[in-house]
Amino acid sequence: MPESTEFKVRLTRRLPTSLAALEQMASVEVWPERQPPTADVLQSKLAEVDGLLCLLTDPIDQELIAAAPRLKVISQMAVGFDNIDVAAATARGIPVGNTPGVLTEATADFTWALMMAAARRVGEGDRFVRNGQWQTWEPDLLLGLDIAGATLGIIGLGRIGQAVAKRAVGFDMQILYTGRHRCDPALEAALKATYVELAELLANADFVSIHTPLTPATQSLIGAAELRQMKSTALLINTARGAIVEPEALYQALISGQIAGAALDVTEPEPISPESPLLQLDNVTFAPHLGSASRATRKKMADMAIANLIAGLQGDRLPHCVNP
Ligand code: DGY
Repeated sequence: MPESTEFKVRLTRRLPTSLAALEQMASVEVWPERQPPTADVLQSKLAEVDGLLCLLTDPIDQELIAAAPRLKVISQMAVGFDNIDVAAATARGIPVGNTPGVLTEATADFTWALMMAAARRVGEGDRFVRNGQWQTWEPDLLLGLDIAGATLGIIGLGRIGQAVAKRAVGFDMQILYTGRHRCDPALEAALKATYVELAELLANADFVSIHTPLTPATQSLIGAAELRQMKSTALLINTARGAIVEPEALYQALISGQIAGAALDVTEPEPISPESPLLQLDNVTFAPHLGSASRATRKKMADMAIANLIAGLQGDRLPHCVNP
């Protein structure tokens, strides 16, 4: 067998970068379609595969891992990896890679884009103009919320949460944060961020922005009780994972006026069902999971995922490995 095809790797989607380095050491099969392979199809294609490069839309569970006896590495093109059973991979000695860092700024930018769009009703204004409803300048037309001087509550002050907070400093916002643990006091001082319990954050923030990974502890973290604790004038922004917020509770909070609105880049399920009542609400701003979707960022994520894949094939430590 020629050296260039010593390994077999499978990519679950086309990537926005060159595969040349990978192709020098492996035969590469790329799932050609826009929709991800179904779990069954993916499983049926893994028997001979040494390396898998996957996306957050691919459930990589124990059964799928068991169907890949040669698998040496799983490389995810995303920072979040809640779709992968890391424990099952670890039990087989398979390293799992992700792509942290390179998407921090793009995701923080997009969080701000959504926050500002929701606060100032940009989506509603766009629809208003396109629908021919714009008659004249009106003193009370589509009034929104002030961002400057408001209080921003950040759930999860990790890399992305910090980058969101950094931008808030320029808007003279008061920043409250909560998370698994308190950050270093120097970091708190630099960001002018105050640690509080979740309940205090929810009660005081004008904007609540979620930046925590999806784990058993954060699944449904924001449900009916938490939404009730928020101000009736507040907005909820989620660019993390949809399952952190209970969709039915969010819908109820939005229609009953418990909170003023939401901006959702992520939903549960994803994509959101076209039947979801949330889609009928004008006070929700949606995006189709675009947090990291700048050209440069997606290329960096793809390059990083390939670097992890190559390292795993070679038996080296992955540059970014999530196994404990
Ligand atoms: C991630 O990387 O986890 C994002 O959700 C997609 O960029």
